[in-house]
Amino acid sequence: MRFANRLKALSGNVFVDMDQAKAEAISAGKTIIDLSLGSSDLQAPNVAIAAIEKSLHDPTTHGYLLYHGTLTFREAVAKWYTHRFDVEIDPQTEVLLLIGSQEGTGHLPLAILNPQEIALLLDPGYPSYAGGVYLAGGQIHTMPLLAENQFLPVLADIPTSVLAKARLMVLNYPHNPTTSMASLSFFEETVKFCQQHDLVLVHDFPYADIVFDEIKSPPSILQADPNKSSSIEFFTFSKSYNMGGFRIGFAVGNAELVTALRKIKAIIDFNQYRGVLDGAIAALEGSQETVKQTVAEFQKRRDVFIKALNNINWLVESPQATMYVWAKLPEPWQNKSTEFCRQLVLKTGVAVSPGAGFGKQGEGYVRFALVHNPDVLEVAVKQIAGFLGETL
Ligand SMILES: Cc1ncc(COP(=O)(O)O)c(C=O)c1O
Repeated sequence: MRFANRLKALSGNVFVDMDQAKAEAISAGKTIIDLSLGSSDLQAPNVAIAAIEKSLHDPTTHGYLLYHGTLTFREAVAKWYTHRFDVEIDPQTEVLLLIGSQEGTGHLPLAILNPQEIALLLDPGYPSYAGGVYLAGGQIHTMPLLAENQFLPVLADIPTSVLAKARLMVLNYPHNPTTSMASLSFFEETVKFCQQHDLVLVHDFPYADIVFDEIKSPPSILQADPNKSSSIEFFTFSKSYNMGGFRIGFAVGNAELVTALRKIKAIIDFNQYRGVLDGAIAALEGSQETVKQTVAEFQKRRDVFIKALNNINWLVESPQATMYVWAKLPEPWQNKSTEFCRQLVLKTGVAVSPGAGFGKQGEGYVRFALVHNPDVLEVAVKQIAGFLGETL
């Protein structure tokens, strides 16, 4: 069968190879400890579950949820956002319901880019941003994230010829996969840069709450662009509220961008089930104690995991945010992250993500997602120690 050329850019990435290796390990009888996906194993808040359950028995929630049905959700979001970041949001024009933040960042390039126009993406970065740009027929210019720059892009390094064709920049801090954080002053500098070069600034912000050691809440991009001149920010319920499977997120920001993305979405979806929105509203408006418990659990896991890695002499810095550990591979595995992950899962059943899957600059690293309890994480490190002992 003949398919569109754009499909080529979407097939065959290293995560597909990893899925295959995982499947091989399962058929060989290995017990899998899967640390490759950032899918939380913790429970959604009880108030969210109760609200969804109640909705199920209300037939008025069973139909299509069209645009007008979401005002209570948008109001809850605007209130939550303003309380949290002290920037006013108009629930009528500056909030958009999404089927998860990935859906939003994946679709947005269709509203912004003409064919061949450029999106500026972080390298390493979350893979779906690039997928969205390919679907829109755009080109990608990657901004390398290096350890010596605290994994922040150097805006001055973007060539003028690239900027002439660029329309969009995507940031994501706290950052997946490197776990690095950005300051408000970095965001202010970036907003100014995007205004100068007429770029839409997208900030994907799924780890807004997953920050450790009592560190102050990370900044929102709209604190650096309170007039919302060129920015849009994406949030999710998948991390703070452990609701990944429920598929719900939202965007806040520039009203024209919100309208443009809504137009794209209107072709594709009718929004999700209203009960899911009721659950999300309950999560936002309920006690945030469950968020604190989630953060405390990931902090505990981080401490156990980093200590265990250090004990086997794999020295890794302790991340301040996210549910990941971004670890430089030991010497013999440098530049072989995919092979390391393939062999590790085949020999031990421990599945982790190769840095190369997040971009060229991710090579030489692996990403561990701390989505199991501390005992399981310690078993995983023991398995890794055995594997390294055999292969170093
Ligand atoms: C940076 C980033 N963006 C988006 C997502 C997906 O979020 P959602 O479940 O809301 O689509 C993830 C999930 O791991 C992520 O790390």
